[in-house]
Amino acid sequence: MRTQYCGALNTSFIDQQVTLCGWVDRRRDHGGVIFIDLRDRDGVVQVVFDPDAAENFKIADKVRSEYVLRVQGRVRARSEATINPNMATGEVEVYGLEVEILNSAETPPFPLHDTTVGEDVRLRYRYVDLRRQDMQERLRFRSRVTTAIRNYLDDNGFLDIETPILTRATPEGARDYLVPSRTHEGKFFALPQSPQLFKQLLMVSGFDRYYQIAKCFRDEDLRADRQPEFTQIDIETSFMDEEQIMAVTEGMIRQLFSRLKGVELGEFPRMPYAEAMQTYGSDKPDLRIPLQLTEIKDLLKDIDFKVFAGPANDPKCRVTALKVSGGASISRKQIDEYTKFVGIYGARGLAWIKVNELEKGVEGLQSPIIKFLGDEVTLQIMERTGAANGDIVFFGADKSKVVTEALGALRCKLGEDLDLYTCDWAPLWVVDFPMFEETDDGSLTSLHHPFTAPSCAADELRANPAAALSRAYDMVLNGCELGGGSIRIHQKPMQQAVFEVLGIDTAEQREKFGFLLDALQYGAPPHGGLAFGLDRLIMLMTGAHSIRDVIAFPKTQSAACVMTDAPGAVATEQLRELNIRLKKKEPVA
Ligand code: AMO
Ligand code: AMP
Repeated sequence: MRTQYCGALNTSFIDQQVTLCGWVDRRRDHGGVIFIDLRDRDGVVQVVFDPDAAENFKIADKVRSEYVLRVQGRVRARSEATINPNMATGEVEVYGLEVEILNSAETPPFPLHDTTVGEDVRLRYRYVDLRRQDMQERLRFRSRVTTAIRNYLDDNGFLDIETPILTRATPEGARDYLVPSRTHEGKFFALPQSPQLFKQLLMVSGFDRYYQIAKCFRDEDLRADRQPEFTQIDIETSFMDEEQIMAVTEGMIRQLFSRLKGVELGEFPRMPYAEAMQTYGSDKPDLRIPLQLTEIKDLLKDIDFKVFAGPANDPKCRVTALKVSGGASISRKQIDEYTKFVGIYGARGLAWIKVNELEKGVEGLQSPIIKFLGDEVTLQIMERTGAANGDIVFFGADKSKVVTEALGALRCKLGEDLDLYTCDWAPLWVVDFPMFEETDDGSLTSLHHPFTAPSCAADELRANPAAALSRAYDMVLNGCELGGGSIRIHQKPMQQAVFEVLGIDTAEQREKFGFLLDALQYGAPPHGGLAFGLDRLIMLMTGAHSIRDVIAFPKTQSAACVMTDAPGAVATEQLRELNIRLKKKEPVA
């Protein structure tokens, strides 16, 4: 139907006759001459209709925003005065010779150029929203990234193999989406939280290097960087150790940034998990921000101030300072805001000291807590944190988890609010994770997943599971967990030891993971891999603020699709076939 894309036209087409197809971006009537900005995938070009061609003019006069047109015309140079430098095609225009309305359109639910439209409306009319230039650009970029990924992995000998969507529960730590089986009464499939076990089994089968751009499903609380249905770049290899796996996957990310963004990331530093938590209060530290946490527990054991002395003498607690250079200008009102902010993480307060004139000793400090700390301890803290005039020091004293999370989050918030970033991109690997973490009821769960290999032997693992480290690694970029993986367990006794530590007894092991335990007995090679969050990667590379802006048809915060109105009710007959009966809703009292 067309000879060119609208966005492709430039001065090299002058005097050529072209046929274009697209949508009416804008229509203006300038005293008898009608200008239509015609838009397609590639961009926008101005088409001019004058009354000399009466027939066409009449049609052009009728069209409205978002009508679909086919236009034949002659490309001509715009006069010097009418060149539009803000438009890629701004040096030319098309003199319309013939126009055909392929389809009319209702007034759009929102003007495409309005950047203030609420997300709910945008998602309801997503097909219109996706016409917007920024959405088009992000999805095109996404397509370039997946193509580049496929090329890189193909060049490195990886095979693209699909794995099932209807499967058994895979324990990645979230709730499962379940699908009832009609043919097996009372039984359910689970949608995969990741292809984890299938990719391991492909290694047992000898495929050696696997990848898949795989859909994953997790019923979990949603945040700006989480979707219930998201995409992983899933990778698994045999006979490679963690160094080799990190090298090949880091190489992929480096190449993507270099080729698609012109950014050279350099070699990624490594940081042990313990250091990340201690110094940055996070297992995914944002290293663009220069702030660090300082431990001060030992200085506070003997003071009278219970708020600090209590945690200082409790082995399960942390007392930590966060010095912010130049932060003395933060207002009291702002400090109150930050106190509220750390409250989200369970912190019961946020003590602070402002440093005005350190040379005057405690006289030169300003704070509600110096009187409780005493002069000597206060000055020791100043020295330990390296505080200088103009700085503020914040404090957290509580259960270790609370202090770490609260001050870790405050560190990032201050980095953003005060624009403390020292660079654009800060990638790193976090390594040496613990195998397990303690849940609130005191039992242990896997920090990654139960198929992750420990760095110690099975008897050592059984004897002191809480101290065991794993052979896992996470790739972090700008404070976002981009991907994670590990060397896997490839021997049955070790897999059983891990299940035992997790409190999964032999019967449950058999019931849930029998196929894996069996496979490990039929010649499973040493193997390991990693999965990247594709949506998160695109989000970072395009600078999008929400994961929803890089997905064509995302779910809302409440895990629904407002366009199709999914999830939806189903017919009673369908439920009957599935042997499901819905409970009557309790009447509201
Ligand atoms: P993990 O659970 O760490 O590991 O997931 C890997 C990566 O997937 C992304 N991700 C998400 N992205 C958007 N929305 C979500 N709800 C979401 N959940 C996770 C993150 C994360 O780093 N099978 C293992 C990988 C392996 O061991 O090879 C796994 O799934 O970027
Ligand atoms: P209070 O004596 O409870 O008023 O606390 C004095 C100061 O210590 C206030 O600035 C509180 O915000 C702060 N504070 C209270 N509890 C904590 C805590 N757990 N960690 C850090 N600061 C706290």
